[in-house]
Parts: sequence; structure tokens; C-alpha cells
Amino acid sequence: MKLSLNKVLSLRGDIKIPSDKSLSHRAVMFNSIANGDAKISNFLMGEDCLSTIDVLQKLGVKIKVEGSTVYTYGKGINDLSKPKDILYVGNSGTTIRLMSGILAGRDFESTLDGDSSIRKRPMKRIIKPLSMMGANISALNNNENAPIIFSGGTLSDLNYELPVASAQLKSALILAGLRSNGKVIIKEKDVSRDHTERLLMGMGANINKTGLQIEISPSELQSNDLVIPGDISSAAFWMVAASIHSDAELNILNVGINETRAGIISVLERMGANLEFNNKVQYSGEPACDIAVKSSKLKGTTISGKEIPLLIDEIPIIALAAVFAEGETRITDAKELRYKESDRISLLLSNIRSFNPDIGIKEFDDGFEIEPAEDKKMGIVKIKTGGDHRMAMSFMIASLKNGKKVEFDDMECVETSFPRFFNLIKKWYQ
Ligand code: S3P
Repeated sequence: MKLSLNKVLSLRGDIKIPSDKSLSHRAVMFNSIANGDAKISNFLMGEDCLSTIDVLQKLGVKIKVEGSTVYTYGKGINDLSKPKDILYVGNSGTTIRLMSGILAGRDFESTLDGDSSIRKRPMKRIIKPLSMMGANISALNNNENAPIIFSGGTLSDLNYELPVASAQLKSALILAGLRSNGKVIIKEKDVSRDHTERLLMGMGANINKTGLQIEISPSELQSNDLVIPGDISSAAFWMVAASIHSDAELNILNVGINETRAGIISVLERMGANLEFNNKVQYSGEPACDIAVKSSKLKGTTISGKEIPLLIDEIPIIALAAVFAEGETRITDAKELRYKESDRISLLLSNIRSFNPDIGIKEFDDGFEIEPAEDKKMGIVKIKTGGDHRMAMSFMIASLKNGKKVEFDDMECVETSFPRFFNLIKKWYQ
């Protein structure tokens, strides 16, 4: 369905954001392969996480959903059953990559597949090290693309340096390591989100972390009741919305601020955003708080290197913050963006060009530079979302501030991570 949006006069009030997507996937996956029952509160009922539940149910795990609470009845680490159907992950990269670690080297055959975007995303990065451990796995295009077929094998030692700073890759190998006969040692390229290690250690897994090195030994997991905090990647849209708008004061409630995810906070502070952190709490080792954001005058910044994995999903909305800032913004070392739900470098920049053709843009293989410009032209802007939820929401947020009418070719994709996004958007037009 199409959508068209225009500027709003003021942005004030409380914002309740959806639950953390990364944590919701992991909470239900890990409890499904643990011993015992668990209650997961404030689970994200977005399409991606529902795909994870569906896949686990097809593997014989009993899972009950009541409102935003999920009850799991764990099967233990070794007792998943052969699925009757293909395991369909929809648009969810986290489901296909983490489930690969869970399915590798089982004594039954299974196939993971997804939508057209998933079928384009790189899978060799997980298939290669899982095969080195002894799993029999095959996939299309020389093991690069889904569908991925798992047909047994015996998992043993692995000593592996990750070629990319990817939490999905790291998590797949940790999950396989829990069932390996040998010692699994992986070395991260740079720090990436560490939800997997935190949750699994809290469930009794034998995981030792020293700096960037992680050692995993065979483990049984004990189920754990979990409460999921709000998703900082969803909060990011509203942090930027308030920062760029001239009359804004938003209080974003219950945002997860794990430091391996919270790179957006330091970047916005560096750009001059007015942020306040209140009511700090902890949920099973994951810190959260309310974030109050007021209008501010942003200035451009430079983002590169180790900071990139800490904010990889927030780069589209940071780019829109840069469009409304003073001075240029340069982002490099972010080639991973080309392999997300869309090629987030090329699609983002072509949309920024149609948003305001006067903006100076330089595209690099691993990033871009944005030189803001005053928007002097009137008319209608047409945004291509590419079915990418974060692309769509970034420009929807920017249109709350912009003077022109902005049209979107697709609005359903936001369901992937932010089911109530339009209720929030509509609120400002009343
Ligand atoms: C995620 C890790 C990131 C991120 C994705 C969610 C996760 O992907 O982009 O949205 O939950 O582990 P990579 O690990 O592939 O960078």
C-alpha cells in the first residue's frame, strides 16, 4: 500500500517503542533448546520474530503466545525433531543465520529458506565455518544463497577468525559450538552486539570471553524467564525525529542500552543532540532506561572503524540526521550495509537525492559523504523503500520535518520490526 506524509508542527510526548528484535529472537531460540519451561515477557510480535517462533514450532518445540508473552517448553539441546516442511524465515536474516548454527550437524535433514531479499543475502560466511566444523551443508550459487540444506555431519573443533564483525555469524558459531564434540574458538574482527553471549552465559553455557576471543565448550542450557527491553534501533528513529525537528520534546520509554548496540547515542551526542537518560534498570544483564530528547542544532560527524558494528542498523536514520545537520558527515568501513535487507548504501543515497537534489553526495564502496543543502524546491518526493523496513521508517521520520509531500511505494515492510509505527506517526497529524 502507498503512503504520503507531510511536515508536522510539533513532536511532544511519550513514545513506547517495540521490544528489542535481536533479544526477542534469541530469547525464544535459546529457551527452545534449553531444559525446562520459560516465560518471555514483552516479546516483539513483529514479522521477523514470528518467523523464528514458526521455525522452532516446525522443529517440534511447543511454544505458546499470549498477547506479548511467549511461553516456551524447552526440548533440550539435542532433541529437536525433523521438520515436515521447509523452514521459512520470511525476511529475517537473524532467523536464518542463528538457526543455521542450531541446525548444523543434527541427525536429520532440514532446509532453511526465505523471501527474495533473504535469497540474495550472503550465507557462505556461516556455511564455510560450520562446514569446517564437520556439518554437511549445501546452498545455491556455490554455497552463497538460500535455500540452505542441512544434512547431518558431526561437529568438532574450530579455530576461526571471523572475516566480518557480524553478531549473526558469531552467534551461529557459538550455537553450533554448544553441541560440538571439540573445542570451538572464535576471534571477532571487532566488537559486535553481545546479546548471545550474555543470554547463553545466564543459562549456564560454557563460554569464556577474553577480549575479542570466545571459547565455547559443549553445554546444556537451563531455561530462563526473560523480560525484553525496548529496541534501541527503533528508538533511534524517534531520537533523530526530535533532534532534527524545531519544536520537539520526546520521552522514549524503556530503551535497551547495551553498549555493544548503543553507538547511535555517542554519535548523536557528538552531533550536538540534547539527550537525557533516566530511570535506569537491568533486565537479565541487559541495561535499559528512558531517553528524553529535545530539539537541537545538529552538526556533521565522521563515523568509521570499530564504531560501525555498534550502530550498523542505525546508519540510514543517521544519514537523515546528517541531511538536516550543519556541515558534512562521512561514513566509511560500512560495506556490510550493502548486504542488509536492501543495498542500504545505494538505495539510501538515491532516496536522499530525490528527497533534496541539492544535497552533495559522494558514494564510496564502503560508505558515503553527505553535504547538507537548503531545500528550495517544492513538489512531491517519491521514496523507494525496496521492501526495507529501516529505509522506509528513516524517510517517514524525515518527512515529519520536511516541507514537501513525501510518497512511499510500500508501507507494510515496517511490520518487520515496528508493528505500531503508523499509530505513532498518525498521532502527530491529529
Ligand atoms: C543482528 C545483527 C546485525 C544486524 C541485524 C541483527 C542480530 O547483523 O544488522 O539487524 O540480531 O544479531 P550482522 O550480524 O549480520 O551484522
